[in-house]
Amino acid sequence: EKAGFDHFMLKEIYEQPKAYRDTMMSRITEDSKSVELKELGMTVEYIKSIRKVHIVACGTAYHAGLVGKSVIETLARIPVENDVASEYRYRSPIITPDTLVIVVSQSGETADTLAALREAQRNGARVLAITNVVGSSVAREADHVLITWAGLEIAVASTKAYTSQLIAFYLLGLYLAETLGTQEASHIADVIAAMQQLPEQVDSILEQAAVLKQVAESISHHKHLFFIGRGVDYAVAQEGSLKLKEISYIHSEAYAAGELKHGTLALIEDGIPVIALVTQEELYEKTLSNIKEVKARGAHVLGIANAGAEEEVSKSVDELFAIPKTLPILSPALSVIPLQLISYYASLALEHDVDKPRNLAKSVTVE
Ligand code: F6R
Repeated sequence: EKAGFDHFMLKEIYEQPKAYRDTMMSRITEDSKSVELKELGMTVEYIKSIRKVHIVACGTAYHAGLVGKSVIETLARIPVENDVASEYRYRSPIITPDTLVIVVSQSGETADTLAALREAQRNGARVLAITNVVGSSVAREADHVLITWAGLEIAVASTKAYTSQLIAFYLLGLYLAETLGTQEASHIADVIAAMQQLPEQVDSILEQAAVLKQVAESISHHKHLFFIGRGVDYAVAQEGSLKLKEISYIHSEAYAAGELKHGTLALIEDGIPVIALVTQEELYEKTLSNIKEVKARGAHVLGIANAGAEEEVSKSVDELFAIPKTLPILSPALSVIPLQLISYYASLALEHDVDKPRNLAKSVTVE
């Protein structure tokens, strides 16, 4: 059942190219110029009436939603707020009939997420569920459903479900943009073309797993580390940090790169590992200067950057891992892969139960 892999997590990491293809399949028109999501059952009139979006989820699904915010705001120009589901109801959120509430849940059974869905509907908003389980509670109760076709995910640490949620947000962002006319047709076609390259690009990252295993083994000797990035790189940093904590039990924090100097820089000391995501071209310079700040305090920096930018970035970091070049908005679908592998191999090096980390359950059905 593990198809020759040592753990379900590793198997599921390697299933991502297929999960990307399956989630995109039949939703991109044959000419690759357009996204078709009639399955949502949203009328053009309804889409035009949406004034704001709330994305509500827990854990890894919440992190996918952080990328979703960038995607929807960039492509469809609708304002988006993100909430952790266990907080949403208690902050008396302003939910109106022109709010689209998107709940994201791999299992579709997370208690807090389901409660958020019901709260949204009680206030007259419609709910769109992005979920991996057809017929789950969230899928049954939502007004609109977008299934991620990641297939069964068994490892407690979510990998292919997260990346399929990213693909779902890209599809949704493009669909809303097309319907609202917020992007040129040529730009839509460019994003689709770049999306279609992602599965092969993921494969090329997976081929370099041995390098990441080495990185993980050296990280496994440390007690603390940091992930930094800006924009969607910060969203991915948060997911990388959660994954590492969850299965290796090494403490880490994700920080917006520019925010370090407002306090956290005090924790940077000699030899501390810092994983810096540097994929957003327009932010290179800013992030590189933040990397210099941590290096000056003795940090050992692993940079994750785009192929093509190695020269610029390698001068500022101790080690560099290059990911294939894609559009800035799509980079999370690639940059998270090395972080998943680092977490996996760190957990393995520390001889933890990779697929069943202590204290955690796959599906959290209590608030
Ligand atoms: C982390 C992880 C959890 C889940 C969270 C939400 O790897 O798996 O953080 O993402 O419990 O679960 P779902 O998506 O099923 O609602």
